[in-house]
Amino acid sequence: MGNARRFAMIPGPKPLPIIGNSWRFALGQKPWRTKSLDATLWRLRELAGSGGAAKVAKLFGHPDLVFPFCAEETAKIYRREDSLPYRAVAPCLKHYKQELRKDFFGDEPGLIGVHGMPWSKFRSKVSKALASPEAARSAVPCLDYVAEDFVKKMESLLDENSELPKDYLTELYKWALESVGAWALGTRLGCLSNDDVAAKDIIRSIHGFFHSVPELELSAPLWRLYSTPAYKTYVDALDSFRSLCLKRLTDKGICASIAKVSGEKVATILALDLLLVGVDTTAAAAASTVYLLAKNERAQRRLQGELDKNLPAGRILNSRDLDRLPYLRACLKEALRIKPVILGNGRCIQSDAVISGYEVPKGSHIVFPHYIMSNEERYFPSPEEYVPERWLRDAKHQSDTEPHTVDVCRRQRVVGIHPFASLPFGFGRRMCIGKRFAEVELQLLLAKIFHKYDVSWRHGELTYSVTPTYIPNEPLQFTLKHRDKRCQ
Ligand code: HEM
Repeated sequence: MGNARRFAMIPGPKPLPIIGNSWRFALGQKPWRTKSLDATLWRLRELAGSGGAAKVAKLFGHPDLVFPFCAEETAKIYRREDSLPYRAVAPCLKHYKQELRKDFFGDEPGLIGVHGMPWSKFRSKVSKALASPEAARSAVPCLDYVAEDFVKKMESLLDENSELPKDYLTELYKWALESVGAWALGTRLGCLSNDDVAAKDIIRSIHGFFHSVPELELSAPLWRLYSTPAYKTYVDALDSFRSLCLKRLTDKGICASIAKVSGEKVATILALDLLLVGVDTTAAAAASTVYLLAKNERAQRRLQGELDKNLPAGRILNSRDLDRLPYLRACLKEALRIKPVILGNGRCIQSDAVISGYEVPKGSHIVFPHYIMSNEERYFPSPEEYVPERWLRDAKHQSDTEPHTVDVCRRQRVVGIHPFASLPFGFGRRMCIGKRFAEVELQLLLAKIFHKYDVSWRHGELTYSVTPTYIPNEPLQFTLKHRDKRCQ
C-alpha cells in the first residue's frame, strides 16, 4: 500500500451530493445508459488514461465500481482470489432466491447470484457433470440433432430473396433453448416447431428476465420500495422458469444424473440457472459469429475449406470430428474477442488491494472490461479486423493466406496473446460452467451453416446494445446461398 495513490484519486464521473452517479443512468443519456454500456466503458477508458483504471462511485445500492483497463492487473486480481470468489451480480436475483422464494430454494440456491459456502457447496455438486471435457464430448450427438433440425428450419424461413426473416435472432434463441433443454433436461422442448405455445412462453420469459435485469440493477432500486413494472416482469419470468424446470425434468440429461446423486431439488435449481444464462449467451455468440463471417469472405472460404475436408457426410457428428476443425474454433474465439457476449465480468474483492497503483478497499466491485481490452491495438493489432488466423498456434497456418492477414498475424506474434486480454467466459473457480458445452453447441451450428451455405450480408453495419448480453439491434437478415458442390 505504501506508494499507492489514494482511492479517491481514481478518475471517473463526478458523483453529485446525495444522488451520487445513479442519476446519470436514470436519465439514460449516452454514454451513461444501461443499453449502451459499450459506450460507457469506452468513456471510462478515456477517463482512466495512462493511470489504467477508472471508477464509478456512489450508485444507489452498489459498492463503488473500479475498472482496471489492463490485462496484467486483471491477471493479478483473478489470481489472488480466494476459494470463494464473489461475483458482483444481480442483487435482484439474490432477492428472488434468498428472500422472495426462500421457501423453495432454502439452503440450495444454485450458482447464479449466490456467494460464499452455499455457492461452493452447490458448484462442487454439479461441476464434474457439467464442466468436464467428457461431459461436453458426450453432449455432441444430442446437440447435433438440434443443430441439424435448426439448419433445416432455416431453409424454410428464407424469403424469395433467400434472406432470413427479420426475427432470425428469436430463432437463434429457440435453437439455444432447445439445445440447453436437450442437454440439461434430456428432452426436446419443441422450440423449433412453429406452433409450440409453451416454447414461445419460455422465450418470452427469458426476454422479460433479461430486459428487466439492467433496469433493476443499475437504475435507482425503486423495486425495493414497490413492485415496479420491471420487477413484476422479472418475478413472473423466474416463476414460469421454475415451473417449467419442475415439469420438464426427465430421467435423462445432465440434470437427471445430478438428481440421482444430489436429489431432484438440486437438479431443478441447476436447470433453472442453466436456462437463465445458457440461452441468450449462445444465441448472441452465434449471431455475432455468423455476422462477422458473412462480412468476411476470405475467412468464410477458409472455414468452408476446412469443413469440406473434415466433415463426414451422412452421419451424426462426434467430438472427434470437431477436434479436426481448428479454424472453426479460431473463428469463434475471434468473434468473442470483437463482440464478447458479456462486456465485463466482475469480482467483489474480499481484502484491501492495490490495483493499477491505486489503493482499493475491501468490498469494492472490480469490473474487468474485457470488451475494451480485447479491442485495443496494444493487445490485438488491427483490433477491428476479423482475423481468426491470429489464434492459430502454428505459424505455418498463419502464413498460407493473403499478405495483409500475414502482416496482422506477424504483428500479433510480436505482442503475443495475453491470456487475460480476452476472457469471454471469465476465469478461475467461478468461470462459466457451461463453457465447454457452449463451445460444442456453437461449433456444431456454425459447421452446419457454413458447410451448407455461402452466407452474405447485404445491409448496413450492425449496431449493438447491452441487454445485458451484447446483441445486435437490427434484424439479422443474412442471405443464404446453397454452396456449389463442385468446389467440395
Ligand atoms: C458463448 C456463450 C457463453 C458465454 C460468453 C458465457 C460467459 C459467462 C461468463 C463471463 C460467466 C462469469 C464467469 C466468471 O465469473 O468468471 C459465466 C458464468 C456462468 N455461465 Fe456462462 N457463458 C456462455 C454460455 C453458457 C451456457 C450455454 C451455460 C449453461 C448451459 C452457461 C452457464 C453459466 C453458469 C451456470 C455460470 C455461473 C457459474 C458460477 O457462478 O459458478 N453459460 N458465463
